[in-house]
Amino acid sequence: MADGADSANLAGTDLQADFLDLGYELFLDRETWKGEMVAADLFDGDDGALSGFDGKCDIVLAQSVFHLFQVERQRVLARRVAKFLSRKGAMVMGRQGGFTAAREFSLGDKRLFWHDEGSWRRLWEETGREVKDENGEEMRFEVQTWMVKDESWFWKGCNVPDWQEGRVMYFTVKRL
Ligand SMILES: C[S@@+](CC[C@H](N)C(=O)[O-])C[C@H]1O[C@@H](n2cnc3c(N)ncnc32)[C@H](O)[C@@H]1O
Repeated sequence: MADGADSANLAGTDLQADFLDLGYELFLDRETWKGEMVAADLFDGDDGALSGFDGKCDIVLAQSVFHLFQVERQRVLARRVAKFLSRKGAMVMGRQGGFTAAREFSLGDKRLFWHDEGSWRRLWEETGREVKDENGEEMRFEVQTWMVKDESWFWKGCNVPDWQEGRVMYFTVKRL
């Protein structure tokens, strides 16, 4: 938007409708924003409120979302997000918590799985085998990751176990 993108070409979603409202308040664009904003659960299944996005998204920005869940839930999420992609060359991108060696751990009352580069790549290989493209063929993805040691995320007392091994994983997952 700041670089001149037309908001009619953008869309957003969150589980919490309040967060979508806060976005309008933050950016003062409730009257001018033209994109579709849908409050919905990404785990609602393929026929839910998000089905209108299927096959329509060139870029899906999924920041700090996958890392909220255990790996089985992430598999469901990856299949859902893959179906949003419009064509070969379309991609999922973002950043999330990671580790030098992938692991599941507890944060408060939640169990989370944070990836290393290999486990994240394998998640998308599995996803590609399970999601069919418009020709009924398996999807293939090119996965790139950049692991950054960022002390604004990981410091002694940040509640992430083995925080010294924590990394911020930046990623692109491009449909081939
Ligand atoms: C840590 S925030 C990240 C927000 C933003 N992407 C960012 O990077 O700042 C995770 C977001 O995922 C949303 N979320 C959690 N579970 C969800 C679900 N099942 N379906 C859709 N959104 C969900 C939360 O409401 C929250 O806004």
